[in-house]
Amino acid sequence: MSRILVTGGDGQLGKCFQQQVKNIPEWIFFFPGRNEVDITDFHSIETFVKKNQIDTIVNTAAYTQVDQAEDNAEQAYAVNEKGVENVLQIASQHHLKTMFFSTDYVFHSVNSDFLIESDTILPQGVYAQSKAAGEALIAKAAFPTILIRTSWLFSPFGKNFVKTILALAESDQTLKVVNDQWGSPTYGLDLAIVALQLLRHYPSQKKVFHVANTGVTNWCAFAQSILKQSGLQKEVQGVPTEAYPTRAPRPQRSALGTSKIQSYLGTPLRSWEEALADCLNQLQNG
Ligand SMILES: NC(=O)c1ccc[n+]([C@@H]2O[C@H](COP(=O)([O-])OP(=O)(O)OC[C@H]3O[C@@H](n4cnc5c(N)ncnc54)[C@H](OP(=O)(O)O)[C@@H]3O)[C@@H](O)[C@H]2O)c1
Repeated sequence: MSRILVTGGDGQLGKCFQQQVKNIPEWIFFFPGRNEVDITDFHSIETFVKKNQIDTIVNTAAYTQVDQAEDNAEQAYAVNEKGVENVLQIASQHHLKTMFFSTDYVFHSVNSDFLIESDTILPQGVYAQSKAAGEALIAKAAFPTILIRTSWLFSPFGKNFVKTILALAESDQTLKVVNDQWGSPTYGLDLAIVALQLLRHYPSQKKVFHVANTGVTNWCAFAQSILKQSGLQKEVQGVPTEAYPTRAPRPQRSALGTSKIQSYLGTPLRSWEEALADCLNQLQNG
């Protein structure tokens, strides 16, 4: 019997875990929101860990507002670096298992391959740099941990691209979406399943894994698939990144290679198109 604290329990990935753990009655999960466990506050985590005899922390809590981070660097680093440090320190003191999440945005590659775990990171912008700072602390930990990098997360929960496109489909305006940024969309509910499998096969050494649905697309083609699979007639016009400037830079291509996780668990990941169909089905049918 494991007793698992999932930080950031109200976030998109936190909610995906909440749905998937219903299939694991033999483990006890806790999903406190930020008001109960604030990872920037060492004592709030430690109090919760002791009170609930936690043996594992899954840290989904993060500062995730990529563009706003440019004006809120202090807050982004407080959560994505200091928060990770706090979790690691508690894990070290109480001998806990830990799992952390990071992002494809730590890369800034221009080559057309799938990025593997050992590729050199080159984070651009405050959000990516704060996540990379968290990764650096995890890399220094003197005990086994799991770090999962994922990308382009979508699900029935929280704010994400799929829900944004479905909402914009209701408007009269033509959708303009960038068509020169490439990546691998990842279904949060698939990611949660893989993460839970990893907890069952917790490594004896520190491990980094890339977890994403298979395949690669660009944001415009992704939007077109969302509308097509939903049976919605709506034009999407592809535009270059320069036509849609954002505060923080985005990688041009950050598709994650997932061979390592697929061979570690011995189970294949499905394509993002199949996962999208499931997500749309869940959004339509509740
Ligand atoms: N979303 C993506 O496309 C994407 C892509 C690649 C990687 N990731 C990574 O995947 C992980 C999960 O992302 P997500 O999409 O679930 O993000 P999310 O929806 O923004 O959820 C993050 C959660 O963390 C909470 N939080 C923020 N600061 C906190 C603190 N100090 N203490 C405790 N909780 C705090 C947030 O609460 P509030 O809402 O109150 O702030 C929110 O509930 C993150 O590590 C993210 O970097 C996400």
